[in-house]
Amino acid sequence: MTQDPTAPTPPAANPETATPALSHLPVLPQEVLEALQPAPGRLIVDGTLGGAGHTRLLLERGAEVIGIDQDPYALERVQAENLPGLRTLRGNFRDMPALLAGAGITQVDGILLDIGVSSFQLDDAERGFSYHSEAALNMRMSQSGPSAADLVNRLEEAELAALIYEYGEEKHSRRLARAIVAARQSAPIETTTALADIIKRAYPGFAKGIHPARRTFQALRIAVNDELGALRDGLQGAEALLAPGGRLAVISFHSLEDRIVKRFLLGSSRLTPLTKRPIVASEEEQAGNPRSRSAKLRVAEVAEAPA
Ligand SMILES: C[S@@+](CC[C@H](N)C(=O)[O-])C[C@H]1O[C@@H](n2cnc3c(N)ncnc32)[C@H](O)[C@@H]1O
Repeated sequence: MTQDPTAPTPPAANPETATPALSHLPVLPQEVLEALQPAPGRLIVDGTLGGAGHTRLLLERGAEVIGIDQDPYALERVQAENLPGLRTLRGNFRDMPALLAGAGITQVDGILLDIGVSSFQLDDAERGFSYHSEAALNMRMSQSGPSAADLVNRLEEAELAALIYEYGEEKHSRRLARAIVAARQSAPIETTTALADIIKRAYPGFAKGIHPARRTFQALRIAVNDELGALRDGLQGAEALLAPGGRLAVISFHSLEDRIVKRFLLGSSRLTPLTKRPIVASEEEQAGNPRSRSAKLRVAEVAEAPA
């Protein structure tokens, strides 16, 4: 976990594939195509549509795509493009079977989950994901449910410490929770920068190359969006939805997620992992797309039905 996930996205490396200010370069593009084998007649679910970076590549190869995203802003932006072959559904990928059943679909040939937040979400200061710019402490991808400010101002100190430790893998979690609870006694913590300042002041020394608030912000984002619970449910739904010969591709960005994917695939009676070790981005991709540096892709397949 060396990458700073909340750093603003630098301009895209390839001007032909992206507009610098509003880009989301898909990670591991070639590897995802090899995994999902898009072709005319194949129906693929992109459970994390985002900026439709991967979806565009799947459509270009003739596949039909159902794009799911829980973020209404992400969906609106993609819907405005009217991409031929794409149907969109708003919702959480943890509810994939029900969402697809609502559209009359019970089986698909491929499923992609590219977990986490998009560059659009990180770069939009108002979403409250980044400690680099002042905004309301929101972090809700779906815009519903408790926000990061609700957690920071309402949780007991011990609960906060556990959350920061478990989801942020932050070894100073107790000290930071104590500082947060002390600070909120004078006034509620409402903004990203207010929280970042409290953490900076409480942090012992400086972690090399890592902003002291990085792990705490990651922890809050994971908790606010129940990202690990959604992933577990999403994997189960995917396992049930894939047709014989169908492929699942999951891209994760930190060890907590990758562990869940790895264990799920090892324990699955239906899916066979095709990647013993996760696929990572080439040096060239990492140089052009910093987000790809911590990406890990695992691929699995449902056995073909006997002839
Ligand atoms: C990393 S981005 C995907 C980027 C996309 N693959 C592309 O190339 O443009 C993740 C997207 O998935 C959405 N997302 C994250 N967790 C989700 C969930 N549990 N259910 C539905 N959408 C989710 C986010 O709102 C975000 O738009």
